[in-house]
Amino acid sequence: MTGSAGADLQVQAIGNDEDVVRVRQLVRTVAVAAKLSLVDQTKVVTAASELARNTLVYGGGGQAEVSTVDNGKRRGVRVVFSDSGPGIADLDLALTDGYTSGGGLGLGLSGARRLVDEFELETAVGAGTTVAVVKWAR
Ligand SMILES: Nc1ncnc2c1ncn2[C@@H]1O[C@H](COP(=O)(O)OP(=O)(O)OP(=O)(O)O)[C@@H](O)[C@H]1O
Ligand SMILES: [Mg+2]
Repeated sequence: MTGSAGADLQVQAIGNDEDVVRVRQLVRTVAVAAKLSLVDQTKVVTAASELARNTLVYGGGGQAEVSTVDNGKRRGVRVVFSDSGPGIADLDLALTDGYTSGGGLGLGLSGARRLVDEFELETAVGAGTTVAVVKWAR
């Protein structure tokens, strides 16, 4: 992941629906501080909302770490979601448009990946899932 994480890192626990709203609000605030355009703010907030919901629904809860990043040329917002849930056995399948194991639309992960500039997913069955995303100001 390019850029250094800011000293402004904030952690939001994800244990219920209200926490998902708090993640959205926190990401919006940090995206504004990083001077993202309104469209890019909305993209990263939408991605974060989907990933926070997955953390809650499939991961059994977890947390989001939100910070600004700076690569020397641009500022951006970085969000890292982590849970200690069951993990994802087939990552390619999970990232396929329309695949859901839980009766959703199956567009959360794939959509989130398209909405951000950087997307890294690490998962281990039985151990949990971490998704890190960055959206840069342009
Ligand atoms: N944190 C996670 N832990 C375990 N499995 C996950 C996690 N996030 C996603 N998955 C798996 O990946 C699948 C695809 O996720 P995705 O967000 O794309 O779809 P969905 O949540 O099922 O539906 P939607 O997000 O469209 O409502 C999920 O159905 C689930 O099986
Ligand atoms: Mg989802």
